[in-house]
Amino acid sequence: MTDLDHEWTPRAAQELPAQRTAGPALEALGVAGTTPATGVVDLALERRDEATGALLRRVVVTDLADDSPTRRLRQAQIAARDQLLRSNPEWPGPRVADGGVVPSNEVAAWLYDDSPALQEWRGRLVPSARALFPLQRPHASHLPTGTPIDDKARGFFTDSLDAVGIRTRAAVLRDVIARTSARWTAQGRTERSTWVSLACGGALPVLDSLSALHPHELSLVLVDIDPVALDFAHRLAVEEGVPERDVVRLERDLVRTVVVRDDLVEELGAGTAAVVDALGIFEYFSDAACVRMLRNARRLVADGGVLVVANMLSDRPELHWNKRGIGWPLLRERSTEQLLGLVDEAGIDTARTTVTIPQDGVYAVVSVDC
Ligand SMILES: C[S@@+](CC[C@H](N)C(=O)[O-])C[C@H]1O[C@@H](n2cnc3c(N)ncnc32)[C@H](O)[C@@H]1O
Repeated sequence: MTDLDHEWTPRAAQELPAQRTAGPALEALGVAGTTPATGVVDLALERRDEATGALLRRVVVTDLADDSPTRRLRQAQIAARDQLLRSNPEWPGPRVADGGVVPSNEVAAWLYDDSPALQEWRGRLVPSARALFPLQRPHASHLPTGTPIDDKARGFFTDSLDAVGIRTRAAVLRDVIARTSARWTAQGRTERSTWVSLACGGALPVLDSLSALHPHELSLVLVDIDPVALDFAHRLAVEEGVPERDVVRLERDLVRTVVVRDDLVEELGAGTAAVVDALGIFEYFSDAACVRMLRNARRLVADGGVLVVANMLSDRPELHWNKRGIGWPLLRERSTEQLLGLVDEAGIDTARTTVTIPQDGVYAVVSVDC
């Protein structure tokens, strides 16, 4: 163990479930054969940042919550409770003890009481990647643990800003991939290539983006520390029609293989990937770790390829709700300026960088045309 290991190993990774058993078949989760839950991206505002040359985009993404009759009321209820938490900074967030949720404040009690699915979700799935699954597919009938999703849980998985943000960041990834694919088509590029997904989790955003690549074909290299997430991602990929030979699973600790050392670049080869994405991992890394990861992720990308990362925004709405209502642990939020600073420190040209923020304002998606 080096000092770097101590500084950079995210506790969330250490806390990941250790079991290697497969969860229920996807059909049992009630999602087999259903369409992606993410939407159409429309440009609201685009401008160049004078200081960095980066392209800053605000977009509007259609989302399944748009059609939810409960969305306005539930979002107002959550916004009011976020305000209540803001006014009571001494209230502790919910705790997990013996797999059960101890709400610890009235807002968390409002969320978790009377919903076995929400308690199971917070107690057994957060912060693993499989906790994102019901947000990405709120119409699923069951959680990845097999527990039925009750109406109260489904309402939060559909309507809450945190859930909307998870879906809109995936839609932005898909939009970036579609633009990249269009550029390749214009350049007459036809070669088959590789998409490396770092901290892939269940890889639903990746799988939902694959069709945007048409006619370009990519095989997938899925990298995560969590073997359960990798199994889940692999089964989803195969069930969504990706040929088994096109999916490689790599159980790797990114701290050791991308941040502290350069092992993953040596293993996969510099410049071998047309697409590298890393969504949902910067929140667990220090600035120094993000810079090292950006540098090595960039080294993986071939000329003409694209690198995509994301980070929860520090000025996002309902941060208190996220931290002490839901109680999602250990996240580091960042501003657009901070993210561009990390890109610059990694030696990446910020003028080739785009920061895209959907209307919910929860995440920034940072893409680099390499
Ligand atoms: C929030 S999930 C994001 C999953 C996916 N990219 C998405 O957006 O749906 C974060 C993922 O990072 C993985 N992770 C956390 N620490 C890691 C590490 N040190 N090495 C590799 N993966 C890690 C977790 O196992 C989890 O699957």
